[in-house]
Amino acid sequence: MEKQIILLPGDGIGKEIMDSAKAVLLAIAAEYNHHFTFEEHAIGGSAIDTHNNPLPEDTIQACKSADAVLLGAVGGPKWDSNPAHLRPEKGLLGIRKALGLFANIRPVKGFSPLLHASPLKEEIIKDSDILIIRELTGGLYFGEPSERRENGNAVVDTLYYKRAEMERIIDKGFQSARIRNKHLTSVDKANVLESSRMWREIVEEKMQEYPDVTVEHVLVDAAAMKLITQPNRFDVLVTENLFGDILSDEASVLTGSLGMLPSASLRTDGVGMYEPVHGSAPDIAGKGIANPFGMILSAALMLRFSFGLEEEASEIERAVNECLEQGYHTADLQIQNGKQVGTKKITEIVLENLTTKS
Ligand code: NAI
Ligand code: MG
Repeated sequence: MEKQIILLPGDGIGKEIMDSAKAVLLAIAAEYNHHFTFEEHAIGGSAIDTHNNPLPEDTIQACKSADAVLLGAVGGPKWDSNPAHLRPEKGLLGIRKALGLFANIRPVKGFSPLLHASPLKEEIIKDSDILIIRELTGGLYFGEPSERRENGNAVVDTLYYKRAEMERIIDKGFQSARIRNKHLTSVDKANVLESSRMWREIVEEKMQEYPDVTVEHVLVDAAAMKLITQPNRFDVLVTENLFGDILSDEASVLTGSLGMLPSASLRTDGVGMYEPVHGSAPDIAGKGIANPFGMILSAALMLRFSFGLEEEASEIERAVNECLEQGYHTADLQIQNGKQVGTKKITEIVLENLTTKS
């Protein structure tokens, strides 16, 4: 298989962890006879420094013609007091929009050697394996008007959704449930919001198209509660933009290790952008101690979702898990009697685990 991949390392630890992901992808390509070509482009704060623009035009063009995009992270104190148009996050929001990414997907799955670090009791979190699917283009974050009124004494934000926007994300939920355990949790606030009532209607309609998938409707407040009391009752969870933003962050702490979590943002044709859930970690940037696993596992998601390479994706996940089972970890993780190593070393161990698969 031949694929063109754009690398956007961004800021802070972005470059360090991107090097790791690239090395892993090259090893997979060699092992399975694929041909991946890489092209690196600027985004975020470093793009402000070099191009005076957090999202240079050539970055947009390159991403648009690529098969997939890998992003490190953007931001840092250096650019915190910049004016709005010269902020690193502008680059991130801009590229999501330019690529038409509508579905954000975050798998939340614990690695057994790390579960003791979860804020939840191990017996509650163990065996949890959740896929959170969040709508990215509509809802309260984009609705107009969004403004102050009555001399600043009142305010309005607008929750606006088109039926088609709801349909495509709900379809994504059903399709994902179908290839997993055929159980879909749809989260809304249908007891209060008209938008949620329309959402629920669409889910009910779609159930006819996916008779093999069982659906459970859960109100968002109850979902927030159940995520921490009974996380393993969830499999695929689909929801709109604001609810998804909150629930996906809540879910991201369940496993107790921010540095381990990948994410995918997809377009309808499967092209996607893949990035770790964490930020640019300026406090540890340049020290060679960043945990590259969130980035490496994001590359695995790219193989799975954009290229359909399930075996190769699982192989990366297996190699990462084996590394932890062997006791190797970076400074942000804790494993009893483990061996703490830096970014480069832990990447080498993953590479060894890839080539010595049983
Ligand atoms: P952060 O996720 O960068 O860091 C939070 C804490 O976790 C820090 O102590 C950091 O050292 C640690 N950490 C994060 N990832 C790690 C890794 N891979 N290995 C080891 N330790 C890791 O969040 P924070 O500090 O709130 O934000 C820092 C910068 O990142 C800000 O400029 C923020 O705007 C930006 N940011 C960017 C995101 C993105 O590009 N998607 C997402 C979140 C924040
Ligand atoms: Mg968030």
